[in-house]
Amino acid sequence: MNLLFVDDETHLRDLMERELSDLGHAVTLAANGDEALRSMDAKAFDVVILDLRMPGLDGMGVFRRIRSRGEDPEVLVLTGHATTESAIEALRLGAWDYLTKPCRLDELKVVLERIEAFHTLKQENRTLKRDRARYQRQPILLGESAPLRAVREQITKVAQGDAPILLQGETGTGKELAARAIHEQSTRRDRAFVVLDCGQISDSLLESELYGHEQGAFTGAVHAREGIFEAAHRGTLFLDEIADLPVHLQSKLLRAVETGEVRRLGSTTLRKVDVRIVCATRGNLAEAVSCGRFREDFYYRLQGVEILLPPLRDRPEDVPLLIQEFLRRYPSPRLKNLDVDPSVVACLAAWNWPGNVRELENVVQRIVLLADRTPVQLHDLAQFGVLESGGSASPRGRSLADMERAHILRILRETHGSKSQAAEFLGISLKTLYNKLTSYGLSAPD
Ligand SMILES: Nc1ncnc2c1ncn2[C@@H]1O[C@H](COP(=O)(O)OP(=O)(O)OP(=O)(O)O)[C@@H](O)[C@H]1O
Ligand SMILES: [Mg+2]
Repeated sequence: MNLLFVDDETHLRDLMERELSDLGHAVTLAANGDEALRSMDAKAFDVVILDLRMPGLDGMGVFRRIRSRGEDPEVLVLTGHATTESAIEALRLGAWDYLTKPCRLDELKVVLERIEAFHTLKQENRTLKRDRARYQRQPILLGESAPLRAVREQITKVAQGDAPILLQGETGTGKELAARAIHEQSTRRDRAFVVLDCGQISDSLLESELYGHEQGAFTGAVHAREGIFEAAHRGTLFLDEIADLPVHLQSKLLRAVETGEVRRLGSTTLRKVDVRIVCATRGNLAEAVSCGRFREDFYYRLQGVEILLPPLRDRPEDVPLLIQEFLRRYPSPRLKNLDVDPSVVACLAAWNWPGNVRELENVVQRIVLLADRTPVQLHDLAQFGVLESGGSASPRGRSLADMERAHILRILRETHGSKSQAAEFLGISLKTLYNKLTSYGLSAPD
């Protein structure tokens, strides 16, 4: 450590310089308070060992100066004139320890070792906190399938430029996550990432939302307000559900994107803004263009870079990894290290996931919430009501017999277990139903 030893006794300074250097520290000496302050101006110290009684600026004076300068070396008081008052004052100022002369070297050595251990911990803690903050901020599209790797590579490549980007993909495929990843990997990362959901906002408000307004621009405009273009200045503006943008606003938006200038409602001045546009849509924008719901010129403008987020059913090999990630992210409060049986993973990987990764995330959350043993088994899933709501999905890769069984059980659930009603729904005799249930290993009361 870097030590500053402050004492007016020459022989003690010489002794300490030798002894503390032998312990492996870099020692600087000061004979009085003013010298100590000058040393601290020149260099940062880990520990200051401070005598109290010195001619000129005394030890306590130096200590107060250290605190008022907002520096944070540890301070060790070493005095030949211990008093209750100075001990209290030293503690109040946050002294690490208060030692009295004559000081035993082995005692000083132990104290310094403790400080060093504390410093190492503090340093480690700082690094960990910084890493964690960075990790939490880092939006990461997980997945090792070829299509997802390709998306990640594309994101890294396009993040640098300023070209508008169009993200397309079904619901829950990670379009917003991708938009955030683009922002975080760009030089704009320290500026704002502003989200505007074009489908969630009323026509009249959208314009003032986008461009801002001056005071009194319209009824209710009590205060002037900056629009999101201004808020996103030098950052990224994420226009979600762009296909829902009313046509008359598309042309205005196009102009703002092309000129990089916006005018607040009720204002005559144009303001320059530097905004990177990232759009997302669930639907097919080209189709919206051919129906006349989306301006063609705007489409071409946005289409500069198009990234397609692949649906989860096209990359079942990503499912196990995502399950593990979500199990890690949502730990069960009741079961330590909750896990799922490989058969559950296989079943989830075979599902067709109309809601994509968001749906998988919800399913895992549900499993975590309802599980009362680990690992979770395949037949627990049915009890949790997982993979059945939605209904629209038909699992891939299952045999016809499996499908039939699932269908019959679903109908039975709908009829609250009434087998005669179920048989009628299914268009089979009650006897056939019983036979089928027996072949599934389900006895009548089940
Ligand atoms: N590849 C992925 N890795 C990890 N998490 C993901 C991935 N893709 C999506 N998610 C998670 O799934 C959820 C939905 O993602 P996101 O909101 O980005 O989807 P979206 O495409 O914008 O959906 P929508 O069209 O419904 O708005 C989020 O919680 C997101 O973190
Ligand atoms: Mg979204």
